[in-house]
Amino acid sequence: MEQKERESWGSRIGFIMAAAGSAIGLGNIWRFPYLTGMNGGGAFIVIYLACVFFIGLSIMLAELTVGRRTHLAAVGAYKTNSKSWTFAGVLGVLSGFMIMGFYPVVGGWSMAYIVKSFTGLLSNPAAVGDAFGAFIGDPIQPLIWTVLYMLINVYIVARGVTKGIETAGKILMPMLFGLLIIIIIKGLTLPGSSAGLSFLFVPDWSVVNGNTFLAALGQAFFSLSLGMGCMITYGSYLNKQEKLPQNALIVVTMDTCAAILAGLALFPALFAFGLEPTAGPGLVFVVAPQIFAGMGGFGMIFSAFFFLALMIAALTSSVSLLEVVVAYLMDERKLSRKSAVYGTSVVMLILCVLSSLSLGVMSKATVLGVGAFDFFDILTDKIFLAIGGMLLAIFAGWFLKKEDLRDELTNGGTLKFGLFEAWYIMIKYVIPVLIGIVAFVGITSIAQ
Ligand code: PFF
Repeated sequence: MEQKERESWGSRIGFIMAAAGSAIGLGNIWRFPYLTGMNGGGAFIVIYLACVFFIGLSIMLAELTVGRRTHLAAVGAYKTNSKSWTFAGVLGVLSGFMIMGFYPVVGGWSMAYIVKSFTGLLSNPAAVGDAFGAFIGDPIQPLIWTVLYMLINVYIVARGVTKGIETAGKILMPMLFGLLIIIIIKGLTLPGSSAGLSFLFVPDWSVVNGNTFLAALGQAFFSLSLGMGCMITYGSYLNKQEKLPQNALIVVTMDTCAAILAGLALFPALFAFGLEPTAGPGLVFVVAPQIFAGMGGFGMIFSAFFFLALMIAALTSSVSLLEVVVAYLMDERKLSRKSAVYGTSVVMLILCVLSSLSLGVMSKATVLGVGAFDFFDILTDKIFLAIGGMLLAIFAGWFLKKEDLRDELTNGGTLKFGLFEAWYIMIKYVIPVLIGIVAFVGITSIAQ
């Protein structure tokens, strides 16, 4: 089959920053802290780390391998090997759409909060919670921010892999880490902050139950951008000299560090101010401003920095979500990059409008008992991504030739990868069974 020249990453660091940019996002800074807060702190973190390094890392490696082997995005990568697997790729593209049905809404909130940091958000700490509720329930304001946020995504992805996505990652990722570190230093110097450190790092096992594992696994997939072909797509732009195991390990480690840093940015300060860690999804939007309000004159600046970091993190991830769908349309439907980007974004925006309105005027319109926002969130995080990961593991373990996988992972035999057999057993047997168990528990608990 004739193939036109495929775009590829301009440099190794470019790929790492883009892949880490995809992984590090709202999942790390918005979701990880509130899940940790709701699931008892340290114990959740230990289980999360186990999911990340036992399951997530292996799947990350499998996705990159499949992507680079085929040089095709999710659907094509499955389809070239076997037509009957097309559905697995399509499920991934569908997940991409659904995550982008709520993700830009939260991205828009974070943009709004950068501005709000300077316009009175911090002046009445007691009212921050109500103000947040009123803001996200408003039928117009959050939508304006969502559209603005989406336009930035469109701009970046329309520019293409190297000029757009890679450049954004290289500039924005270091900025994000820098901002988080500044906030952490400030938080750790507050009196009473050590209680936050104990909460994060001293596990209390009495709070752990089946749901904790489900939450941790779902979070690992979401946070590492796995289970929907995103890393297949990014892997498809990798050149043959790159060492896949090293790259996978670097990306997974960076993502985990970002989550822990986000925890360190929030919890010590939160405990220092005597606030509750169990606030749920509103945690960063409600508790963080209260923390900043307590910091005096510089609070505004810290607050603006924090929400800028959140927005940056979100942006490099939503760009990758958009790219998954765009790459599919380019590979399989032969659309040009620009028309793929514009068409896809319009559909995503419509889903976002539904999500945003479901938190206010449309709160009565529910599917299976939840509004659009929660529906997209729960369905992808708890079900689709885990199933997508399981399908990928089965596909790689049982339908691809072991020798082909070895060849790809060792760059044609020129590299040593001593853990190949262990990885192969994980992918072929252990991970499908583990995910099967957890997904089953998840689906039954959601169905209840
Ligand atoms: N990993 C992103 C985050 O932590 O916010 C979300 C995400 C991006 C999920 C890309 C899935 C994906 F394919």
